[in-house]
Amino acid sequence: MSGPMSGPEPGPVPSGPSAAEPVIRLDGVSKQYWPGPVDAVKDVSLDVREGEILTLLGPSGCGKSTTLRLVAGFEIPDAGEIRVGGRLAAGPRAWIPPEKRGVGMVFQDYALFPHLTVGENVMFGLDRLPRSQRPSRAREVLGIVDLAPFFDRYPHELSGGQKQRVALARAIAPRPVLVLMDEPFSNLDAHLRDQVRDEVVGILRETGVTCVFVSHDQRDALAISDRVAVMNRGRIEQVGTPREIYKHPESIFVATFVGRTNLLAGVVQNEDGCVLTDFGSFCRVDRLGMPNGSQVLVAVRPDGFEATAGGGLRGRILTTLYTGAHVEAEVAIPSAHGGDRKLIVHLPPSRGYQPGETVELRLDPDFASVVRNACHSLGFGSASATSPVANSSASASPVAAGP
Ligand SMILES: Nc1ncnc2c1ncn2[C@@H]1O[C@H](COP(=O)(O)OP(=O)(O)OP(=O)(O)O)[C@@H](O)[C@H]1O
Ligand SMILES: [Mg+2]
Repeated sequence: MSGPMSGPEPGPVPSGPSAAEPVIRLDGVSKQYWPGPVDAVKDVSLDVREGEILTLLGPSGCGKSTTLRLVAGFEIPDAGEIRVGGRLAAGPRAWIPPEKRGVGMVFQDYALFPHLTVGENVMFGLDRLPRSQRPSRAREVLGIVDLAPFFDRYPHELSGGQKQRVALARAIAPRPVLVLMDEPFSNLDAHLRDQVRDEVVGILRETGVTCVFVSHDQRDALAISDRVAVMNRGRIEQVGTPREIYKHPESIFVATFVGRTNLLAGVVQNEDGCVLTDFGSFCRVDRLGMPNGSQVLVAVRPDGFEATAGGGLRGRILTTLYTGAHVEAEVAIPSAHGGDRKLIVHLPPSRGYQPGETVELRLDPDFASVVRNACHSLGFGSASATSPVANSSASASPVAAGP
């Protein structure tokens, strides 16, 4: 790739997606790198809808950038098909080069040309527009990102957040069918980061452009996305709204990568419609359709516990961490099967909880969810709480919490 973006066609994309058609459709896409082989992307299928902001979220090396580069056309898939803007862009018998896909790309390091002014950087991607129209389109887009007065400045005369907005302006100037952004906020300091992120998302929403972000930061992903696709080792483990991903993780990986969660081993008891765990029964799991006696995991967010007298779960606080919004506490709960089980819970910050104190907890059903794709090899009572993250899609509501 020679330039900072792929030079999308200006004006309406020739055959844009219809209302019902996704802007991006990946169907069974795989990509290996050699030597190795490294299975960077494995059998990924994903639709991105018009106007949607979708984030590919996952740990380093899980295949996020490769997926983005496949969509942009900087990589060729080994298997599967990629449709962009309603057109078959890559497949066994199809190939549309990056500059013809109508895709704008924003890179982590902005990739602005240091020897070009802000205006010239933005006009760089407008080479298909008559020369006389380029300055006015560049000024228009710089106005959208609130940088109109910076037209003649050079990149080194801008702050990090301003550079980021120039990169965004350059990506959207040719009116791409979609914008791809690879870790666009990762080299901004924490203070600037949230502000720039919110500004960029505001601009994307205003322009209505479809956008795929890549991030390994679950906070960003949950904050900005209509939907999040969680990737692990080249595969998509779960796609859902931030709320679905957070509250209803469908795999142990998703449960432990997105935030913090408690994983409670349990056994399905269909006659009661419940899952029995060390911490009590979680009911309404019949929707899972799992056979009686199946071993499952129930994910419960730390926010899922309320400290209240008569709550049913009595334990001893082991550690506390004051975060401002809450006190994150590790609580040891005596298990029905002997020994203690540890839970991570969020307690109200208004009270000075101390290690050694006894606390009584009530479980909010809304925060408990059966992890549908957890392997069933866990022995009952062998795995309990406390790894990072949470969410899932089954409905498990505890009716009685407490051994
Ligand atoms: N050009 C390449 N040649 C060989 N292997 C590669 C190449 N690019 C990526 N890989 C490998 O493919 C896998 C996926 O890489 P990718 O860059 O897609 O990960 P990522 O999710 O974007 O990670 P990060 O968050 O660190 O940017 C990794 O194991 C990586 O080492
Ligand atoms: Mg990457």
